[in-house]
Amino acid sequence: MIHSRLGLADADSDAQLLHRVIEILSAGLDLDVVVQRVADLITETTSTDVCFVHLLDKPRGRLQLRGATPPFDQFARHIELSLGDGVSGWVAAHCAPAVITDNKRADPRYLYIPELRGEDFTSMASVPMITRPGDLVGVLNVHTRDRREFTQADVELLSTVAGLMAGAIENASLHSRLAEREEAMERFAEQIVLLGETERRQLAGEIHDGISQRIVSLSFHLSAAADAVASDPVSAAEQIARAQELAAGALDETRLAIAGLRPPVLDDLGLAASLESLARSIPLPDVAVDTVMTNLPEHAETAVYRIAQEALQNVLKHASAEHVQLRLSVAAGAVVLEISDDGVGFDPAATAERAGPVGYGLPGMQQRAELLGGQLTADSAPGRGTVVRLRVPVSAER
Ligand SMILES: Nc1ncnc2c1ncn2[C@@H]1O[C@H](COP(=O)(O)OP(=O)(O)OP(=O)(O)O)[C@@H](O)[C@H]1O
Ligand SMILES: [Mg+2]
Repeated sequence: MIHSRLGLADADSDAQLLHRVIEILSAGLDLDVVVQRVADLITETTSTDVCFVHLLDKPRGRLQLRGATPPFDQFARHIELSLGDGVSGWVAAHCAPAVITDNKRADPRYLYIPELRGEDFTSMASVPMITRPGDLVGVLNVHTRDRREFTQADVELLSTVAGLMAGAIENASLHSRLAEREEAMERFAEQIVLLGETERRQLAGEIHDGISQRIVSLSFHLSAAADAVASDPVSAAEQIARAQELAAGALDETRLAIAGLRPPVLDDLGLAASLESLARSIPLPDVAVDTVMTNLPEHAETAVYRIAQEALQNVLKHASAEHVQLRLSVAAGAVVLEISDDGVGFDPAATAERAGPVGYGLPGMQQRAELLGGQLTADSAPGRGTVVRLRVPVSAER
């Protein structure tokens, strides 16, 4: 049988093929299953011998084989091409189809991949998979053992199939990105609750251990004073003096607890000067401070301040550093806080594994950063010092 068209025989079979492609695409299957089924279908319904579907991994700029006619399906995810490599790479880089009728090896675009046994196949057609808005999603190839001329109509049919697949794949990836964001939002909500819980517990602890204890003693001394006031005025006066001390102490504790919620220095001085005063208050030998004015909302300022506080505490507790630098800068649409030291350093990966309860230390810093939509990285290695870097996107800026 001589095939002059890619479809089985006529326009009806083209429609059949497209119909079955749409059926597969709309079945809501996993991406790899879809790609494999379409490859099988194309081999089954067209007069070609193998079909390869390479999908574009955008961040890495690589094409990866994801579906292929058996036995080549075993190489799915194992064969990768750079954009520009081989015929598929050329098609991807130029967003244009390519047809090779024979003598592939003479074509400068051709790249021999031993696993795919190019020597067994004579003719090929390759089309880009492009979405309606024009985004490249991958490349679809068919090969034949016998020599054949792929016509314009063949290439058009293949391009139509490739376009349908591109749309479905784009939808699937949008859908999974949406699901990821939704999951992230849920995690954030959970973290907010946990962080709130932790802070409430801390505050409850401060009130219980500090303030209530003092008020209990205070009322004890006042009772003693009341009992003694008639019979022993000197002792009563002593009791009242003790009560006054305790009242003053409770007041201090209350101020501290409130300061724990939002450092009052932020309201008085603003973020830059608060960080400078924070750096001066830490008993470290040499802290260089370099800040600029920023315009973050209050909750973001509090988070930046708390993160700086914990990072400096860590330098004090763990680093044995000689020089410490705190920098607050604005760059590329973000406010950046950087605290670096030349101390002993540590292995952040190992530390992350044995992370403690939420709300404290590095994990707590990380969570505060995430809640702002920012990122916190701790760059360190034993013997190499530590750089803690916080990026708060400017979208958080007023
Ligand atoms: N600047 C630093 N230099 C050296 N080691 C550090 C530095 N910052 C953190 N580390 C290491 O990372 C570990 C984790 O820090 P993290 O702040 O999470 O906990 P912690 O300081 O030990 O306890 P917590 O902050 O809860 O009181 C520390 O125990 C320390 O080993
Ligand atoms: Mg710490």
